[in-house]
Amino acid sequence: MVKYKLAVVGATGVVGQKMLEVLEEKNLPIGEYVFFASSRSAGRKLRFSDDTYCVKELKEDSFDNGFDFALFSAGGDTALKYAPIASEHGCVVIDNSSAFRMHDDVPLVVPEVNGKAIYSHNGIIANPNCSTIQAVCALKPLDDAFGIKRIVYSTYQAVSGAGSKGIHDLENGIRNYYHSSMDDEFESTYSLEKFPYPIFNNCLPHIDKFLENGYTKEEEKMINETRKILGKPNLAITATTVRVPVFNSHCESINIEFELEFELEKVFEVLKKAPGVIVQDDIGSELYAIPTEVSGHDDVFVSRIRRDFSVKNGLNIWVVADNIRKGAASNAVQILEKLISKF
Ligand code: A2P
Repeated sequence: MVKYKLAVVGATGVVGQKMLEVLEEKNLPIGEYVFFASSRSAGRKLRFSDDTYCVKELKEDSFDNGFDFALFSAGGDTALKYAPIASEHGCVVIDNSSAFRMHDDVPLVVPEVNGKAIYSHNGIIANPNCSTIQAVCALKPLDDAFGIKRIVYSTYQAVSGAGSKGIHDLENGIRNYYHSSMDDEFESTYSLEKFPYPIFNNCLPHIDKFLENGYTKEEEKMINETRKILGKPNLAITATTVRVPVFNSHCESINIEFELEFELEKVFEVLKKAPGVIVQDDIGSELYAIPTEVSGHDDVFVSRIRRDFSVKNGLNIWVVADNIRKGAASNAVQILEKLISKF
């Protein structure tokens, strides 16, 4: 059996660590793994599949030695510099950053939605934004059935999506709150590593950079990536993305207008059949998806499915997924699995 050589770039990060966990769960035909990070982590030991691996510093010559595939999750600048070097050496890169997502010759793939797109790659495949991945898993089957005319996204995004510094800001905020409430003399040494304001006990309507048009880059990513993945470049979409004090799993309220009339029963039927989607919606027993229950799963959970009575053919849904698994690591590994199965 052919065994492949795989690089994981950004292996020490939040998504990189989850990639290792997901890879351990799968039985992929990989004979050699090499884990890269920055010079800060070079020499650090990582446990993987009952072995200990030494993290290597990513350098320009790192891909000289015959890698077949690389999973990148080390940010846009690292991807822009090293992904082309890797692909020039015959290594297919699956990149989790936004660096290449909107390039015409780079497939932007969610395997359940547009899996066939991977076969048109030129050495780089992009993993979509976490919020986009979970949204399109629910939206694609609805688009096929009723034709989506307009989407309004409102997101409630967990701090893990902002990497290890985002997690630290919430942990520090919680620690600071409890110490100061129990001890009047407590002097806070708390400083923010990631967010411009405390995230504990707050909601920040600000994810990624602000753009000149008043939107954030995260909002722009959701709009453009949804259009690309659904193959509808002119689809009317607007978005407000918000960071909330939740450790893991993003929630989204999605308002949709369809071209066609629909029966609510049919919407349930379509979503129940959709690959990678679990309908969890029973208001009678107060059953709906919440981050603490969804974390650790690869499926996208859909709840609160109800008609929007304020417009013609309108629908509201609540969509929750583990942003580090399905929104990043698992989606990237699923792309890898699909690529390998092609050979
Ligand atoms: P390092 O741990 O050495 O900083 P997160 O966003 O969760 O903090 O993870 C970012 C990941 O990207 C980490 O593994 C980090 O490595 C890695 N990374 C950041 N900059 C570089 C770089 N220039 N080269 C290689 N890996 C990088």
